[in-house]
Amino acid sequence: MKELRTQVAIVGAGPAGLLLGQLLARDGIDNIVLEHRSREYVERRVRAGVIEFGIANLIEEAGAGERMRRDGLVHHGVEFRFERNSYRVPLSDLADGRAITVYGQQEVVKDLVALRLESGGPLLFDTEVTTLDGLTSDAPSVEGDGPEGPVRVICDYVAGCDGSFGVANRALPASSARRYERTYPFSWLGILAEASPSTEELIYCRHQNGFALYSMRSPTLSRLYLGVAPDERLEDWSDGRIWDELNARLATDEMPEIGQGPIVERGITAMRSIVIAPMRHGRLFLAGDAAHIVPPTGAKGMNLALADVRLLARTLAAALRDHDDSLLATYSSTCLERVWRGEEFSNYMTQMLHPNPSDEFENGVQMARLRQAVNSREAATVLARNYVDLNSL
Ligand code: FAD
Ligand code: PHB
Repeated sequence: MKELRTQVAIVGAGPAGLLLGQLLARDGIDNIVLEHRSREYVERRVRAGVIEFGIANLIEEAGAGERMRRDGLVHHGVEFRFERNSYRVPLSDLADGRAITVYGQQEVVKDLVALRLESGGPLLFDTEVTTLDGLTSDAPSVEGDGPEGPVRVICDYVAGCDGSFGVANRALPASSARRYERTYPFSWLGILAEASPSTEELIYCRHQNGFALYSMRSPTLSRLYLGVAPDERLEDWSDGRIWDELNARLATDEMPEIGQGPIVERGITAMRSIVIAPMRHGRLFLAGDAAHIVPPTGAKGMNLALADVRLLARTLAAALRDHDDSLLATYSSTCLERVWRGEEFSNYMTQMLHPNPSDEFENGVQMARLRQAVNSREAATVLARNYVDLNSL
């Protein structure tokens, strides 16, 4: 078995693991990133698109913001649609001038991978971590299978940034860890289409047939979602059926039809809320989806993940460079307070925008919530501040 030594072993090269590696390297802390999938796979995985104000600044401060600042679309407002009418929430007016940046998660990943490889930082692709050992000792280790055979990384700390189905959260002992979970009775069918966006800002839509979201990636790429039943199968959705349903839900008198184009990517995602607490076991620290999942309606998943590693980098640098262990003890509770705010906001957005076909009382409450969000300045201000910068409030 090949044996390596580093200060921090990072499991997973999603946005969380890659940004953590970059922040630690800038603080002079050695680290090795181990990633199950290939470089091509992680760079092509289409997921999040909305970056909060403070998180965009974090990406820039880490030295990975050049392309995001050049190609990212800065949005100062967001639209809500229901009953064939549209209402704009002026995010920046309500949130001290701050705005969101629309820039694909896979672009963030590409930028961070390029930086890592340029600087010669170790990033082991195609290496599945199978075992975490000695987490409550002074010398934990991480074992995995790489393209050249088994590998063991001996380290001071392990960062579990390997998503909800990884190994890190399973290493928490059942006796001390708690898992809070909710599954929603719908999924999202998402497409990426080569079509110029028909709108300048994102549109969140509640329609009696279900939720719809109009987002984008660039002046020539649109990203759209439909709320569908949880057991819906992609094979049952022809391109024509997808566009018809998007049109039926999103249409208003001013925009009776949305621009169409070839669909280049499609997928169905289940909607869940999960919190795992505490986010630490001995020398293992969880960050991002490994510790918490939100339904995507609030656009919070990647932002929460990157905010976790902003604190984790500071925590590990204090311990390893300055011999100050105080942040190690508070990492989990500090994160969880913010994470629960992200859970609350994501749940609020989800419950407001996904009609429930079998619960008319729930639908009445949802409509009241939605009307309040667009008509009351106070409610819109809370929404705007959370949407634009929840992780830096
Ligand atoms: P991941 O991106 O899941 O990365 C984990 C990495 O670990 C992966 O590369 C995986 O291959 C690797 N790994 C797993 N197991 C192992 C192992 N055993 N060994 C080694 N490596 C391993 N968030 C937003 O903020 N805004 C949005 O607009 C938004 N929209 C979304 C839309 C959809 C349809 C979906 C599905 C998600 C969306 N999210 C959004 C959520 C966001 O994509 C995630 O929260 C984000 O990817 C979390 O990053 P992460 O680095 O924690 O985990
Ligand atoms: C996206 O652009 O993919 C996106 C935007 C907003 C969301 C979720 C996803 O709430």
